[in-house]
Amino acid sequence: MRVLLTGGAGYIGSHTLLKLLQDGIDVLALDNFSNSSPEVLRRVQKLTNSSFATHVGDYRAPDVLDEVFEKFRPDAVIHFAGLKAVGESNEKPLTYYAQNVSGSINLLDCMQRHGCQNIVFSSSATVYGEAQYLPYDEDHPLNPTNPYGRTKYFIEEIIRDWIASRPHASAVLLRYFNPVGADESGNIGEDPRAIPNNLLPYISQVAVGRLKELSIFGNNYETRDGTGERDYIHIDDLAAAHLAAVKYAHENHGCEAINVGTGTGITVLEMVKAFEEASGREIPFKIAERRQGDVARSFAEVSKAQRLLDWTAKRDLTDICRTAWNWQSKNPSGFEH
Ligand SMILES: NC(=O)c1ccc[n+]([C@@H]2O[C@H](COP(=O)([O-])OP(=O)(O)OC[C@H]3O[C@@H](n4cnc5c(N)ncnc54)[C@H](O)[C@@H]3O)[C@@H](O)[C@H]2O)c1
Repeated sequence: MRVLLTGGAGYIGSHTLLKLLQDGIDVLALDNFSNSSPEVLRRVQKLTNSSFATHVGDYRAPDVLDEVFEKFRPDAVIHFAGLKAVGESNEKPLTYYAQNVSGSINLLDCMQRHGCQNIVFSSSATVYGEAQYLPYDEDHPLNPTNPYGRTKYFIEEIIRDWIASRPHASAVLLRYFNPVGADESGNIGEDPRAIPNNLLPYISQVAVGRLKELSIFGNNYETRDGTGERDYIHIDDLAAAHLAAVKYAHENHGCEAINVGTGTGITVLEMVKAFEEASGREIPFKIAERRQGDVARSFAEVSKAQRLLDWTAKRDLTDICRTAWNWQSKNPSGFEH
């Protein structure tokens, strides 16, 4: 199978790239490095001792995509590329709609013109919005509360319509919960360019001395210890879910939305404690006001992934903190030395 990865040098793309290469799949990684570094691809090449195809360019440009499709003739696309910061999406909604929604339409159009029938799409648990019940299952009503989440929702609907018009096409919409951790080697990992938006990279950067202290937004939620509870999924498990999903898409028709999580919530304080144990470092923190839009608890119902993809998460909180710390301590400044 030949698989094109848009955004293949990003955090989730690079770990999936590694997983696909280890499985012997023929891949091409397309990226414009707007939120990643060419060093990522060099490290994946070193880790796998293989030279896979790469293409530097913007996936939204039809000539770039045409060139890639003509050269590589993919059987499937895993579509990671896009913008992902919730806060920024409130400030620049049109940029998010142009990058994520218009870009995805161009990609589907190119797939159609080149007879490529299978897509795995990076969706997000943000499509659900406030929980009407927990855990979130795939039938939970969709009501995203910010422009970023709405781009994911709109793209899901567009892909659904596209698939409905093509009897032999197939799509898997993977709704990630909270991807965290790093490859066991410590050679690739999450490397946010600005101040991290997510909890774990923030904690890692405090541990390594790049940031002073962690702010915990609210300690009066209705949870075990008052801090927000989330479903954290190890990046290696998430990469394995992509491998299973692309094989599923290759062998089936139709469109399926599938949660990718562990089914269990971890609170912010539990994460801090586990990271302190893994790193042997203290994580100073202060309690700050709740952030608008944050919910108390979020975790996934995961039986559909098991049923359709024969996939379940295998790694736990200790693995998450150990691998995140291994990556961060080996690469205090990320990919830029
Ligand atoms: N990380 C998360 O917490 C999370 C959660 C849910 C969903 N997602 C989704 O998963 C996908 C991947 O997320 P990630 O965390 O790996 O993000 P990332 O920013 O690390 O990776 C995205 C990659 O796409 C590239 N890219 C962006 N725009 C491009 C363009 N126009 N042309 C070519 N390349 C482009 C970037 O350079 C980057 O390498 C995104 O679609 C994101 O919305 C991420």
